[in-house]
Amino acid sequence: MEAGRLDVVYQGILMSLFMSHAIRRDVIFHAVLGGPPEPPVELVVDGSMLRDVRTDERTWEDILRKVLSGRRHPGVYVQKKSLQELIKEKKSVFVLEESGENIKTIELGENPIFVLGDQIGLPKKDEEFALRYGKKVSLGGREYLASACIGIINYILDQRELIL
Ligand SMILES: C[S@@+](CC[C@H](N)C(=O)[O-])C[C@H]1O[C@@H](n2cnc3c(N)ncnc32)[C@H](O)[C@@H]1O
Repeated sequence: MEAGRLDVVYQGILMSLFMSHAIRRDVIFHAVLGGPPEPPVELVVDGSMLRDVRTDERTWEDILRKVLSGRRHPGVYVQKKSLQELIKEKKSVFVLEESGENIKTIELGENPIFVLGDQIGLPKKDEEFALRYGKKVSLGGREYLASACIGIINYILDQRELIL
């Protein structure tokens, strides 16, 4: 994603890692930032290490500014990595797109990674690359906010875990 939409990153962090009064310790959120000065930068929020956080936007604005300027926060860090490098490290890759196979019928395997576009969508070359390693999955015919998609995926994973 381009610079300037850290609000979209914040919404994604909130929906991927937070429940009511609890953090999902088994979730890692990655955002690949494409804005200046030296793109791409991967922002990582690792639920297993995350400390000293709340859910409000101001808290996260401070944390993101801190780590993007080279300082530390437990469980939050940045590193030089492209989306393609990140995808190559993963086994079960699912690219979120309305035209994909319905998620209800898909076997998600262990440690799946879900790749979503931002408010503009996934760049074509990244989507084509990701699809060499994984498949397209759909949450239905309606286009949702990326953060809403993350909430839906967590709900589906929770349901599957409860039913097993
Ligand atoms: C707000 S949408 C992107 C909208 C953008 N205008 C586009 O055409 O790609 C953000 C991301 O959410 C995901 N998404 C939204 N609705 C979806 C759905 N019904 N099924 C699967 N993924 C969805 C896609 O990964 C999309 O790139």
